[in-house]
Amino acid sequence: MKTTSPLTATTRALMTVWLISTAWTAWAAPISDPQLEKVIQHGKELFTHNTFEGNGRVCQTCHLGGGAEPGRLPDGKVIPSLANAAAIFPRFKPNQGKVFTLADQIRSCAGAALEGKAPAHGSDELNALVTYVTSLSQGKPIDMGGKPQ
Ligand code: HEC
Repeated sequence: MKTTSPLTATTRALMTVWLISTAWTAWAAPISDPQLEKVIQHGKELFTHNTFEGNGRVCQTCHLGGGAEPGRLPDGKVIPSLANAAAIFPRFKPNQGKVFTLADQIRSCAGAALEGKAPAHGSDELNALVTYVTSLSQGKPIDMGGKPQ
């Protein structure tokens, strides 16, 4: 049977786009370096368990599902996920009057939201948190100043 109807052609084009995007995602997603993976896991552990000697909250108290899902503040307000956070930082923070890097944002949440001791720039803890949060954005195109997902 000959299949030359416009619908078939459109379907075939859509299938091709879908196949290419699936192959691209599969190619871009895995993180294969075991040393990097170790630091990602350290960061995930800090994200889900460390209070940074603060008020008892951890990052995951607000950023649910390890940050991959939309979050919820203690008052119930829904906030975006961190699924593309590394792709949209650095960004200008109007309330701070300056450009914030991802590390600055993480230190700000540790100090304000956790009321804890924000890990120092260059520390293993901050590096691990930045590495973990960045891993959530693996494969996403850089979109500095863009909207959180
Ligand atoms: C009490 C709730 C709460 C906790 C706990 C919390 N955060 Fe946040 N976080 C927020 C809010 C609200 C925002 C968005 C507002 C803002 O820009 O400050 C945010 C924003 C972020 C962003 C930027 C998201 C984006 O795409 O713009 C990152 C990254 C982040 N938090 C990481 C962390 C990390 C890492 C921790 C643990 C050290 C943490 N947060 C703990 C409430 C929290």
